Amino acid sequence: LTEKKFILAGNWKMNKNNSEAAAFVNKLIGKIGNEEKIDVILGVPFTSLEKIADITSGTNIKVSSQNMYFEESGAYTGEISPDMLKDINVTHVILGHSERRDIFGETNEIINKKIKKSLEKELTPIFCVGEHLEEREKGLIFNTIEKQIKEGLNEIEKDEINKIIIAYEPVWAIGTGKVATPAQAQEVHKYIRDLLSEMYGEEVAQKVTLLYGGSVKPSNYFGLFIQKDIDGGLVGGASLKEDFIDLANIMN
Ligand code: G3P
Repeated sequence: LTEKKFILAGNWKMNKNNSEAAAFVNKLIGKIGNEEKIDVILGVPFTSLEKIADITSGTNIKVSSQNMYFEESGAYTGEISPDMLKDINVTHVILGHSERRDIFGETNEIINKKIKKSLEKELTPIFCVGEHLEEREKGLIFNTIEKQIKEGLNEIEKDEINKIIIAYEPVWAIGTGKVATPAQAQEVHKYIRDLLSEMYGEEVAQKVTLLYGGSVKPSNYFGLFIQKDIDGGLVGGASLKEDFIDLANIMN
């Protein structure tokens, strides 16, 4: 662990309607109160963002969208702009999740445009990277991560890198119950930090918040979160349930 504030982020994906979202968040607020040991971020579907931003205003919980478009406005049917998110007090945006890459065809280039636009609009990107099982088996973990990081952060300057949160989510560990071992996760986190150090210098690289995601739950978080280069977690399935409230409670 470093001196950075630990982050517990949830990604609800395409789950929870408005009333379910509100009930869950009210419960979460009741349980964790207003302590500020960790930052809690909730990745909420577009339809509940405004409601959850209202409920959490004045608390230590921040609200994230799970995507956005890189243009400001115009003829982009079905898309949501960064200004629309800012307008309803959203502070973070998950970008480059493997589901966006694999199901919706997002490339490193598209993700890079989104990251640049989010920074310009002062939304904090939670930039996701991670290898598929096949790439791991072929010994291509670092090649994959290097390409995702270098292309995703193309033209992003040193003074902006600390405004970005990076999440390492091995695709084989997402929603599978097959969590990476603490050693496997730390190995890639260290690789990412070393790469950032090469790109931006050691001092800046040490300050970047690196999250681990992939089947995190109360029974396995501890070994992961004590690793030197892991500064928090991005939790999917468990963030929909009491498990997330337990995690937030234990860590706060
Ligand atoms: O973004 C979080 C995520 O992809 C991890 O999902 O369900 O494996 O915790 P899960």
